[in-house]
Amino acid sequence: MMTTTVEEFIEGVATRDLRVGIVGLGYVGLPLLIEVANAGFRVRGFDVDAEKTAKLVAGESYIRHIPAEHITALDRARVDYTTDFAESADCDAIVICVPTPLTQHREPDLTYILHTAEELGPHIRRGQLIVLESTTFPGTTRGVLAPRLSSISGLDAETDFHMAYSPEREDPNNKEFSTGTIPKVVGGMTDAALRMASAMYRTVICRTVEVSSCEVAEATKLMENIFRCVNIALVNELKIVFTEMGIDVWEVVNAARTKPFGFMPFYPGPGLGGHCIPIDPFYLTWKAKEYGIATRFIELAGEINTEMPNYVVERTMLALNDYEKTVRGSRIVLVGLSYKANIDDIRESPELCALAETERTWC
Ligand SMILES: NC(=O)c1ccc[n+]([C@@H]2O[C@H](COP(=O)([O-])OP(=O)(O)OC[C@H]3O[C@@H](n4cnc5c(N)ncnc54)[C@H](O)[C@@H]3O)[C@@H](O)[C@H]2O)c1
Repeated sequence: MMTTTVEEFIEGVATRDLRVGIVGLGYVGLPLLIEVANAGFRVRGFDVDAEKTAKLVAGESYIRHIPAEHITALDRARVDYTTDFAESADCDAIVICVPTPLTQHREPDLTYILHTAEELGPHIRRGQLIVLESTTFPGTTRGVLAPRLSSISGLDAETDFHMAYSPEREDPNNKEFSTGTIPKVVGGMTDAALRMASAMYRTVICRTVEVSSCEVAEATKLMENIFRCVNIALVNELKIVFTEMGIDVWEVVNAARTKPFGFMPFYPGPGLGGHCIPIDPFYLTWKAKEYGIATRFIELAGEINTEMPNYVVERTMLALNDYEKTVRGSRIVLVGLSYKANIDDIRESPELCALAETERTWC
């Protein structure tokens, strides 16, 4: 059935008689597609990368920590994959999980979201629910995506179709929490959109947390990642200080974490990697400028974290000196290029910065 009213949609959720489209089948979109399909919905996966959709059709996985069996186990009569966005017309809900990187000038790059709008816009129909999950600054759903979709489709984003924002909190390869067991924050552009999105997610995710607007949901995701970014910078700074004092920062953190309240352990490292923590905070920095506000904590954390690869290179140089060796001419093995163990995502890897720095300075 193709739902047109809010009540029909909510009824369709209950009977699972809905088709959900997932746009962007990467680290976020693919596990979400699997969860939504396993919850009993018909699902259609959209990606611009024809190689990915072909692999999924063939029952193959291209993400290391997602076994192919999770894909082959899906009922192919109810799950399909395509690069043709015209096929979004008979989806009742569409969830967008495309990348949101930074530009060369470290400003938000919404080109993937806008490209998605161009692809979906001509096929939007009355009654559809469109949810943005990509991490972004407050105001993107209401102020950027909705007007774009409206102007292309000629439909109103509050009365003809429905829009919500629900941040993805996926932590790839986390054995304790996966897409389905991480509570989902949901904000709607209207009450109707919130009711629809919440009803859908409630059947897929263990718990939904309704907030009063898309902006609150967008800000929630940024706050979570800024919290990590700032605390990682703090522990990185402490590592440098304690190392000079001959104190092992790891021992300090492990001792401090025995405090049962008021402390949360963060661990030092060679900088930040992955598509989230090094990038997302700067979405807020950029947006805050519109209000004449400088996000000093974020900037400082960024400075400390981006200096860490240089610190590692310097320490390597000093360690080699102890053996009367130079960096030039030495073969150095870097173990673990991604931002955490057993993940094949090396976007923003600090190890790659360290490599570039080494090459620039000594090769
Ligand atoms: N990776 C994570 O752990 C994580 C966690 C939480 C939130 N997020 C956020 O989720 C979003 C997606 O991140 P990701 O890591 O899944 O990215 P990704 O690069 O792994 O996946 C994005 C997918 O979108 C596809 N794509 C690009 N443009 C498209 C378009 N116009 N239409 C359809 N498909 C398109 C790409 O081919 C790719 O398969 C980002 O906003 C990110 O910040 C990521």
